[in-house]
Amino acid sequence: MEMEKKMKLLFLLALLCHGFSITDGGRVVGLGTFNVMNFGARGNGVTDDSQAFLAAWKAACASTGAVNLVIPSGTYFLNPIKFRGPCKNVQSLTVQMKGTLKASTDLKQYKTSGVWVEFGWVDGLTLTGGGTFNGQGEVTWPLNTCPKQKNCKIPPTSLMFVNTNNTIVNGIKSVNSKFFHIGVLGCQNFQGSGIKITAPAESPNTDGIHLERNSGVNISNSEIATGDDCVSVGQGNSYITLNGIKCGPGHGISVGSLGKYKDEKDVQGLIVQDCTLTETDNGIRIKTWANSPTNSICANMTFENIVMNNVANPIIIDQSYCPYASCQSSASSKVKISDIHFKNITGTSKTPVAVTLRCSKGIPCERVSLDDVDLNFTGENSTFATCLNVKAEYTGTQNPPPCQ
Ligand SMILES: *[C@@H]1O[C@H](CO)[C@@H](O)[C@H](O)[C@H]1NC(C)=O
Ligand SMILES: *[C@@H]1O[C@H](CO)[C@@H](O)[C@H](O)[C@H]1NC(C)=O
Ligand SMILES: *[C@@H]1O[C@H](CO)[C@@H](O)[C@H](O)[C@H]1NC(C)=O
Ligand SMILES: *[C@@H]1O[C@H](CO)[C@@H](O)[C@H](O)[C@H]1NC(C)=O
Ligand SMILES: *[C@@H]1O[C@H](CO)[C@@H](O)[C@H](O)[C@H]1NC(C)=O
Ligand SMILES: *[C@@H]1O[C@H](CO)[C@@H](O)[C@H](O)[C@H]1NC(C)=O
Repeated sequence: MEMEKKMKLLFLLALLCHGFSITDGGRVVGLGTFNVMNFGARGNGVTDDSQAFLAAWKAACASTGAVNLVIPSGTYFLNPIKFRGPCKNVQSLTVQMKGTLKASTDLKQYKTSGVWVEFGWVDGLTLTGGGTFNGQGEVTWPLNTCPKQKNCKIPPTSLMFVNTNNTIVNGIKSVNSKFFHIGVLGCQNFQGSGIKITAPAESPNTDGIHLERNSGVNISNSEIATGDDCVSVGQGNSYITLNGIKCGPGHGISVGSLGKYKDEKDVQGLIVQDCTLTETDNGIRIKTWANSPTNSICANMTFENIVMNNVANPIIIDQSYCPYASCQSSASSKVKISDIHFKNITGTSKTPVAVTLRCSKGIPCERVSLDDVDLNFTGENSTFATCLNVKAEYTGTQNPPPCQ
């Protein structure tokens, strides 16, 4: 064979090995499957497989059509890694993850990013396959000073989605994150289901799923047991649905905290349905900082068909949040809370105060309603409600009785 033909053949073979084929006209078309093992991953849980994963991602992202990135069974040791788009000619990119990804415990590795595994700037990503993200947080939790210190070094979140559109996350697990388990930031149309998250009750800042600046998020049929919030809905979110989530242990489902930073965006349009909270510190909580620097809105939220099992504060709006005792007692939250509806909330409260509505003195809550609330104290006495700067509307069963 002449040299030129030989080179062409070698090139073709190389492409085929990496999951490409060539159509007539010489256009490269995605054959579709990119297995990390073909890019040098070892999957022995010890060797750093980051470069192999990145190479597989780059090839998949540069392909066309419907593409699969395959992570077979095995344990893959990974340093911080960013899977970023745009993947211009890819219609859908499915990450089939059967294996376990194991995070480095060396915090110096995370210097430039607060994230272990990031997916960013991708359209049409599906992450599925039953695999596990193991943050190995048990090694670094003792070094986390954030629960006690304002200016702490924030440990990395395990799995972060940044500026993605049309994302599906289905059937994955996350265990022992160093900080948050999953962060969803600036995403549009994010569907999460069958997600299982676990960390011990006493692990610091291990929030299950944190949402910020998203539009159109639906998290359903998931189980979240952590040391912090089950799901936290932060600033700038709209059209969020949480459905069929089992929380506990942990701090419950939280809106906020809001109003900590300047120029935070509004939070509007939240539906929380058919959720069960067991042994959590809070059930449904809306939390705003007392000394918020900027005005913002927290509105249009419905919490319905929620079961509380021995939850310390089943229903709580708290606009005087100030954990570092750094606010003046006269401070009054500038977050305006309105149109908040609690419907069919039943079960047991670990404290006698089953309902707390502590609204801002400067901007009282408006249109807060409770409809069919039945919460019994697990101890001897009956439950009661406490209210400040709010005139709630009541219909149906009211146990505890309404604030006077
Ligand atoms: C997501 O959609 C928004 C507008 O709808 C667009 O500006 C942005 O570029 C899209 N991002 C990606 C990664 O496709
Ligand atoms: C959220 O997802 C669940 C399960 O797929 C589905 O039943 C529900 O209709 C979805 N809700 C919204 C608002 O998309
Ligand atoms: C309130 O939120 C729901 C659910 O996200 C949304 O469908 C509805 O349009 C919102 N209503 C207003 C007045 O914004
Ligand atoms: C109240 O919520 C419980 C628990 O989710 C559910 O089983 C029940 O059907 C709901 N009741 C009504 C009237 O919707
Ligand atoms: C609360 O206690 C009352 C009186 O014992 C009982 O009738 C009711 O069913 C209890 N509610 C719940 C949600 O367990
Ligand atoms: C229960 O109620 C009784 C009578 O009001 C009161 O004396 C007692 O302190 C209450 N116990 C608790 C644990 O709140």
